[in-house]
Amino acid sequence: MNDDVKKYIYGTLTVFVVGVLAWIGFLYINACGFTLTCNRGKLAVDRTPVPTLLPATLPAMEIPAGGEAVVPDQCRVAATDLIGAWVAAGSSETEAFQFVDVNGQDCESTFEEVKPLFIEANYWYVGSLSCVSCHSVDVAVSSAQLDLSNYAGIMAGSRRADAESTGTDILGAGSWDSSLLYEFISTSKADVPGHADIKADLLIFAGTPLPAPEPTVTATSTPLPEATATPTP
Ligand code: HEC
Repeated sequence: MNDDVKKYIYGTLTVFVVGVLAWIGFLYINACGFTLTCNRGKLAVDRTPVPTLLPATLPAMEIPAGGEAVVPDQCRVAATDLIGAWVAAGSSETEAFQFVDVNGQDCESTFEEVKPLFIEANYWYVGSLSCVSCHSVDVAVSSAQLDLSNYAGIMAGSRRADAESTGTDILGAGSWDSSLLYEFISTSKADVPGHADIKADLLIFAGTPLPAPEPTVTATSTPLPEATATPTP
């Protein structure tokens, strides 16, 4: 009985010790191969303690000469304000009109940038129909007998008897705030299909910035520090 217990204990210890040695051997051979010098573990190339890589530097920032105000390449404006500026400027099909964008930048645009607001879907809110899907070219079936698909249609107005006649001016004879168009896209028309969710304050990118007449930022005469030269090794 006593001997049996001893046998088990010694047996277990032996298996354990042999197992540990085998594991260490396995790791050693795995890492160093069948050699005692273990030169596989050495670094392939001798490294110097001093870094020899060139430091990464960004190119010096370019500042326009004379410290001119930087003109952005796009204007940002509320869609209704863009149409409003076009209407206020006489709603021309081809001539450029000007407006001031949300950042106070003077900008210029044409009818070409107003048109997509009427004919593109998914514009005024996510999943919106295009205006044209209801106010289409065929005034007989079009909502409010209004055709927003092209310049002539917009100018001809709403509630038209037929394709030849003109109807109610939707552009308020040039006074945007009192126009039907302004009313129908800026105030919530919860009861009119297609008008309930129009976001009146929708901001869009449109127009080209005009160069500022006078630079608003005054140039400082202090020269900028030179970029530090890269030390040569
Ligand atoms: C789902 C269809 C639908 C869509 C989309 C739609 N409308 Fe309308 N719209 C109507 C209907 C219907 C009326 C007529 C409401 C009434 O009789 O009071 C109307 C009326 C109008 C009127 C007033 C016309 C008048 O003489 O009373 C204007 C202006 C107008 N819409 C412009 C737009 C613009 C701009 C868009 C796009 C942003 C648009 N609509 C999108 C259905 C639509």
